[in-house]
Amino acid sequence: MKIDSITKKLIREALKVRQRAHAPFSDFKVGAALLAWDGRIFTGCNVENATYGLTICAERNAIFKAISEGARQFVKIAVVADTKRLTPPCGPCRQIIWEFCGDIEVILSNLEGDTEIVSMTTLLPRPFDSGFLKKQP
Ligand code: THU
Repeated sequence: MKIDSITKKLIREALKVRQRAHAPFSDFKVGAALLAWDGRIFTGCNVENATYGLTICAERNAIFKAISEGARQFVKIAVVADTKRLTPPCGPCRQIIWEFCGDIEVILSNLEGDTEIVSMTTLLPRPFDSGFLKKQP
């Protein structure tokens, strides 16, 4: 598979931010890097909490940072973890990625450089979103 230079950059950024993960409970560090249409890259790592349930995943951290900075349209997101079987976004992150980013490319990678690109519709078939909240004809 040929990987373009912006995708390589996203993976590098995700690897870099992964080092800042706060994961003392799971010891499972994740980094994410999100590319906006205007070229900006927003990164996020997972930040765990002693109550466990308040933990924020790397992907949601990156997306919420982007939204806070005014970005609204996105192209792709890279997710990096130290697993042989490439780590995909968890269920809640899939929902959030879908709602804010739609059918973007999700680049999965690990510390060995193994990489796979999947679409959001593959990860989250038949999604629920704001379209259902509008009055149905
Ligand atoms: N985690 C992420 O940040 N992203 C994923 O895609 C999977 C899971 C985090 C949450 C938690 O801090 C740790 O990994 C173990 O689940």
